[in-house]
Amino acid sequence: MEWHIVTAFPKFYSSPLDQSILRRALERELITVSLYDIRDFTTDKHKQIDDYPYGGGPGMVMKPEPLHRCLEQLYEQNELDGVPVTYLTPDGDPYDQKKAIELSLREKVVLLCGHYKGIDERVRRSWVGEEISVGDYVLTGGEAASLVLIDSAVRLLPGAISDIDSAETDSFHSGLLDHPHYTRPERFRGMAVPKILLSGNHAEIAKWRKTCALERTRERRKDLYEKYIESENDILGEQEV
Ligand code: 6GU
Repeated sequence: MEWHIVTAFPKFYSSPLDQSILRRALERELITVSLYDIRDFTTDKHKQIDDYPYGGGPGMVMKPEPLHRCLEQLYEQNELDGVPVTYLTPDGDPYDQKKAIELSLREKVVLLCGHYKGIDERVRRSWVGEEISVGDYVLTGGEAASLVLIDSAVRLLPGAISDIDSAETDSFHSGLLDHPHYTRPERFRGMAVPKILLSGNHAEIAKWRKTCALERTRERRKDLYEKYIESENDILGEQEV
């Protein structure tokens, strides 16, 4: 899987890509990550990538020409026909596990990280194919958000994580939050591990975990809970037909 990242801050990525699952995925050549420094595509002495907004007001806007030149070269040199530019912006579509799964199935992803007040609208109109936000809050730039996409999609690639850490038991995979987890010792600061987990009865353990997951989701995420119950009812409805 090829990740192409257009950014004004390529150094942002050195440490995150050098740890844990992402590092292993790079070492195993499951992914490549190519960084394109927008500043390299400026033509002026000051390597200026942003400018004042037309119409006035606070904040700066990312200039169109360096972005355009960068994307043009990137698409020419990497056989990216048909690959959308994914623009990271707080006004994009909300990111979720379903989208992470969708990304993980792609061969190539192009991420464009915005900064300041974002990019000139004409670059958006001519290049951007989809827009993603990672939540209802404002980040300094798209870089932190791009790492959220990379991390969540790469861990789903076959061979990225061990079977023991299987992504199929994640929170959200089933549409529910995760159940509680315990490891040794059996007693810790006066608190015991729930008896059922020591019983060896796998059917009962699965039932207990499902009950906990449902309970936790109902308490913490009414929205997810209702969606889950609805889809369960749909499935039951289909089975009756
Ligand atoms: Cl993708 N970018 C920025 N700058 N802020 C965000 C975001 C993205 N998603 C949520 N907040």
